[in-house]
Amino acid sequence: MKIIKKVLRRVYFLYCRAGKTVASHQRGVSLKKDVTFLGLPIITLMADSTLEIGQRTVLVSTTMVADLGVINPVILRTVRPHAHISIGEDVGLTGTVICAAKSVTVGRHCLIGSDVIIADNDFHPITAPNRRYERDPDRIGAKPVVIGDNVFIGARSVILKGVHIGDNAVIGAGSVVTHDIPANTIAAGNPARVVAGVPPIRNLSALREAGMPDGGMPDFNDLAGLQPIVLASSSATSQTTH
Ligand SMILES: CC(C)(COP(=O)(O)OP(=O)(O)OC[C@H]1O[C@@H](n2cnc3c(N)ncnc32)[C@H](O)[C@@H]1OP(=O)(O)O)[C@@H](O)C(=O)NCCC(=O)NCCS
Repeated sequence: MKIIKKVLRRVYFLYCRAGKTVASHQRGVSLKKDVTFLGLPIITLMADSTLEIGQRTVLVSTTMVADLGVINPVILRTVRPHAHISIGEDVGLTGTVICAAKSVTVGRHCLIGSDVIIADNDFHPITAPNRRYERDPDRIGAKPVVIGDNVFIGARSVILKGVHIGDNAVIGAGSVVTHDIPANTIAAGNPARVVAGVPPIRNLSALREAGMPDGGMPDFNDLAGLQPIVLASSSATSQTTH
C-alpha cells in the first residue's frame, strides 16, 4: 500500500511538473528558477500581455496540500492586451485568483491565503447601458494593484482595483480591501480598515542566528524602525507597537 501511494505521489508530481513545463512555454510567461506547481493552475494571457513569477514561488492549486483547501486552482489571467502580472520571489499562492486589465504586482515573500481574489478592474461598467456585454475599456474601471513585500493576505479576501498594500502588512481573513493599506499595519473587515500595527521583531539577531532560510528572510529593516500606529477613527484608541 505504501509503495502504491509513493508511486501515485510520484506520478502526480511528474504531472504537475509537466504542467509547469507547458506553462513556461506559453507566450508571455516567464517562470524563474524553482517555481513549484502543486496541482495545475489556469493561466490565460491576452495578446502582448505578460506574467512573471519569481524564484521559489509556490502555486497551490489542489486541496490535497492546502490546510484550508482550495475552491479553485490558482488562476492567473490578463483580460486586456498589454496587461502585466508580476509575482515576486518566494511567494505562496493558494487557490489565488489574479486578474489584470492593466497590472497586478505582488512583492517578495508574500503569503496569500486560500482563495484570495486580486483584480485590478471591474470587468463590467458601472453605468447601466450594455453592462453585460460591454468590452470598451474606457467604460470599465481599471487601476493597477500593488502589493508590497512580505504581505500576508488572509483567506478569502478580495483586493480591488487601485489598491496599494504596503510592505509587511497583514490583511484579515475575508476582508474586502478597497483603499490603500499602509506598511506595517494589520487591516481587516469590509471595507478593510487598519485595526492594529504589526508587532515589531524584538530580537532580530537571534532570529537571524536561528537560521531562517535565505528565501524566507525578508528585509527586517523597516520593522526595526516601526513607529506607533495611531488609528484615524475617533472611536479607536492609539496603538503602540512595541
Ligand atoms: C488578521 C489577523 C491575523 C489578526 O490577528 P490578531 O492580531 O490576533 O487580531 P485580533 O484577533 O486581536 O483582532 C484585532 C481586531 O481586528 C478585528 N479583526 C481581526 N480579524 C478580522 C477579520 N478577519 N475581519 C474583521 N475584523 C477582524 C477583531 O475583531 C479585533 O477588533 P476589536 O479590537 O474591535 O475587537 C487574524 O484575525 C486573521 O484574520 N487570521 C486569519 C489568517 C488567515 O486567513 N490565514 C489563512 C492562511 S491560508
